[in-house]
Amino acid sequence: MAVAATSLPLRQIRSGKVRDVYALDDDTVLLVATDRVSAFDVVMNETIPDKGAVLTQLSAWWFEKLGTAVKHHMITADTAEIVARVPELVPYEEELSGRTMLCRRAEVFPVECVIRGYLSGSAWKEYSASGTLAGEPLPTGLRESDRFDPPLFTPATKAAEGHDENITVARMTREIGRAASELERLARLVYEFGSEIASERGIIVADTKLEFGRARGNEGAEEIILVDEVLTPDSSRFWPAGRYEAGRPQESFDKQPLRDYLEAERKAGRWTGNAPPPSLPSNVIDEMSARYRSIFEMLTGQPLSAALA
Ligand SMILES: Nc1ncnc2c1ncn2[C@@H]1O[C@H](COP(=O)(O)OP(=O)(O)O)[C@@H](O)[C@H]1O
Ligand SMILES: [Mg+2]
Repeated sequence: MAVAATSLPLRQIRSGKVRDVYALDDDTVLLVATDRVSAFDVVMNETIPDKGAVLTQLSAWWFEKLGTAVKHHMITADTAEIVARVPELVPYEEELSGRTMLCRRAEVFPVECVIRGYLSGSAWKEYSASGTLAGEPLPTGLRESDRFDPPLFTPATKAAEGHDENITVARMTREIGRAASELERLARLVYEFGSEIASERGIIVADTKLEFGRARGNEGAEEIILVDEVLTPDSSRFWPAGRYEAGRPQESFDKQPLRDYLEAERKAGRWTGNAPPPSLPSNVIDEMSARYRSIFEMLTGQPLSAALA
């Protein structure tokens, strides 16, 4: 069952580009990853079958692997367990199945914590135009997809609408205070952890975007935890390591077919680059759905169907 939007008998606190978020109480939220897909910050009209389940089950797999190395928000991503704890959801079990995560509620920091191991995406765009990243100079002579060692921490604002803006660490510190350096430390840790595991499977994590929040701990003290999704194809660029070559864009395992289609529509003058999006042909939808399932399988070593069984 593909799901474009949910309407559960709970208090909805947000509808993001992909997730519908409900508050159960002061300390717990329900995150439902729909099958909505966005590209270039525009949400498409169509849904991608299995996408929500891939995002939720892949995040759950990473959260479990992270264990206690980085504190995180996941309580459970087992739909049967969630429905048992929240009986109002019994009639919605099929719709929620696989895509739902019960989480500790956090006050989310208004910054995307981006770690870049390679020069790509918006960073390459800015660098190739002006030699800078978030306005600060980078070494000269870098090529597209060049590796950064060590990786760069490049925070971005969370734009309510439209495109996120890269900001300096100094500006991030002005905005959120002393927590900034802890967020950087944790983001680097997650990236290092994830890229090592991915590299064993022949996958490069070119970059990834993480969110953190403050939550109440057991003793009532506040702690910083990793929230939202982690190391998914929506939040990360995954490249096949075997075909990596600096000096050109890389073919990636993520939304490439969708981006390629949209770029072609834009170049042909059929799309402005902003909402409303053009409609997607079924081959693009099918290809995207297969990609999400296949990246899940490549990383976790098991098919999505096995994770959902
Ligand atoms: N544990 C949490 N507590 C509160 N809010 C959360 C938590 N985890 C994620 N969120 C928020 O829920 C929303 C998830 O929706 P999503 O579709 O990913 O949004 P976006 O369009 O901002 O990427 C985001 O605004 C995210 O900050
Ligand atoms: Mg998000």
